[in-house]
Amino acid sequence: MTDYAMIREQVKGLAEASTDYVPLFSNVSAILYEQLPDLNWAGFYLMDKGCLLVGPFQGKAACIRIQLGKGVCGTAAAEDRIIRVEDVHEFPGHIACDAASNSEIVVPLHGKEGVVGVLDIDSPKKNRFSEADEEGLAGLGALLDQITDFSRLSI
Ligand code: SME
Repeated sequence: MTDYAMIREQVKGLAEASTDYVPLFSNVSAILYEQLPDLNWAGFYLMDKGCLLVGPFQGKAACIRIQLGKGVCGTAAAEDRIIRVEDVHEFPGHIACDAASNSEIVVPLHGKEGVVGVLDIDSPKKNRFSEADEEGLAGLGALLDQITDFSRLSI
């Protein structure tokens, strides 16, 4: 089982050097991609002039812009809720950046202005993400909400 408490401690350590979202989220992507088994993508989409723009990530090249309300990421951002999808092929409007993806979890992130982006994690395995993963990633999202400097975003 993934040790999310340890991941949070690693992230707090990284934030001592910089809380700017680019260096912090680059390293968070690397940590998640390395420490969660069976992933094919882990990273961030951040708000940019009213839509989601791809940010730091690990994995294959991905879609660059996602409209709010579209796909799993756009829906999670528009509705400000975590979305855990057992089988992405059954999610209406799912955006297939990588045909190998079968399950996905998306966690909205918040700054002073409200939703500022999402953490998106994909797996080639169906039903990869458990309730425990959802709790762990919700905790990580809450930590990132608290410590991240989003001031360079053009929301
Ligand atoms: N599948 C996502 C798009 C982003 S990629 O998977 C990296 C979605 O439906 O929002």
